[in-house]
Amino acid sequence: MGTDKESRINQIGLTNDLGSIVIRKCTLEDLEGVISVNEKELPEDYPYFFYKSVLDNYNESFLVALNRHHKVVGYIMWRVEKVPADNSLKILNKGHLVSIAILKKWRRIGIATALLNESMKEIKKRRIHEYVLEVRVSNYSAINLYKKFGFFTKNIKYKYYRDGENAYYMIKDARENSEI
Ligand code: ACO
Ligand code: ZN
Repeated sequence: MGTDKESRINQIGLTNDLGSIVIRKCTLEDLEGVISVNEKELPEDYPYFFYKSVLDNYNESFLVALNRHHKVVGYIMWRVEKVPADNSLKILNKGHLVSIAILKKWRRIGIATALLNESMKEIKKRRIHEYVLEVRVSNYSAINLYKKFGFFTKNIKYKYYRDGENAYYMIKDARENSEI
């Protein structure tokens, strides 16, 4: 059942010695699992209605990774922001990576890579001009991951996080002739 797009996402399979992983679009039933991964792995928590609004508005790029017991072990979510262009009156769409996290024991087997690959294709269909994100300057693993995907640091957002840590504001071109 479902569209071609859904079955394509459903078919992605990764295996390691802990079992097989399925990646698919998030559903309402998955949200509890997503929130649990977020609370374990990231200090930035969001209220339930925030996840729900991302799910309602950007479902195609809100993905989960499930283990063989159908437990959520990772997720990624994006939204689109409309912003004025730097040097014209045009309004541009930016694909904003809101959050990605993988449970510790499922890291380093390519789940984040698979989630990024799939979700970036989906959010790009919203005619975005660039992909953007913020990441803690101390978050070596995530910075490495984003660099691997061609993101670069545009600037530093000072004291971006509640605990006072700075963020790198990283961007990647999403226009037609760029690779992803
Ligand atoms: N050290 C160095 N590089 C790393 C590490 C690490 N511990 N983990 C991942 N990377 C980089 C590497 O380049 C890696 O490629 P390689 O394994 O071939 O060397 C590449 O990322 C891809 O690794 P994946 O296996 O796809 O990544 P993983 O599934 O382990 O997830 C993630 C990476 C999401 C950063 C994970 O470590 C995590 O959940 N961290 C805690 C939550 C977090 O920090 N999220 C990002 C916050 S910023 C935001 O959400 C916008
Ligand atoms: Zn952000």
